[in-house]
Amino acid sequence: MSVRIAPSVLSADLGALKDQVDAALAGGADWLHVDVMDGQFVPNLTFGAPMIRALRKLTDQTVDVHLMVERPERYIDEYAEAGAGVFTFHPEATVHVQRHLARARERGMLAGLALNPGTPLALVEEVVDDLDLVLVMSVNPGYGGQSYIPQATAKIARLRGLLDRTGSRAVIEVDGGITVDTIGAAWRAGADAFVAGTAVFGERDVAQAVRNLRAACTERA
Ligand code: DX5
Ligand code: ZN
Repeated sequence: MSVRIAPSVLSADLGALKDQVDAALAGGADWLHVDVMDGQFVPNLTFGAPMIRALRKLTDQTVDVHLMVERPERYIDEYAEAGAGVFTFHPEATVHVQRHLARARERGMLAGLALNPGTPLALVEEVVDDLDLVLVMSVNPGYGGQSYIPQATAKIARLRGLLDRTGSRAVIEVDGGITVDTIGAAWRAGADAFVAGTAVFGERDVAQAVRNLRAACTERA
């Protein structure tokens, strides 16, 4: 599987959104990651469907939406209509996880489950056939610019084993503290897709920052 880089617009200069997105795409960004926060599941408050629609106008690349909100199922239909390509939510924020994954797929999106650092992988196994993506959080969600929690690497490796064992083709995506120094370990542990906010939009040369992240994914068996 090839590397997918998903710059998070949370760290972009929103006053220059088009320029920032164009630069990320010029550097070869595969997906655009949208961090939706509700001030409840996480303390911070960000954006919703209007941001998905705005990105949809700027590019045909996949809009990768990560909901850090209570009861994310309330947004499945709205985000599908806004043009989301990936719908990832936290099982810690809802009850009927399997139903919501199935619904996201029905609405034509890839269905993703995001796991906080303290949330066990066991949960994934129960819904493995309903999943297109697992987002391993390598920080506790809520803010950009935090440091990669090293234990995430072993969790990615265990998840790779689980997916291989069950014959699942789900994508493993990693989110939080991804930089040129941390991405390699996550890649070698078996991750396919990498969210990066600060390491892309915090850099002066955004396009080059995307290329540097991809180049740091080396030496995987
Ligand atoms: C964290 C968000 C991340 C965040 C990553 O709550 O889910 O997607 O934007 O930011 P960096 O790459 O700066 O850690
Ligand atoms: Zn995210």
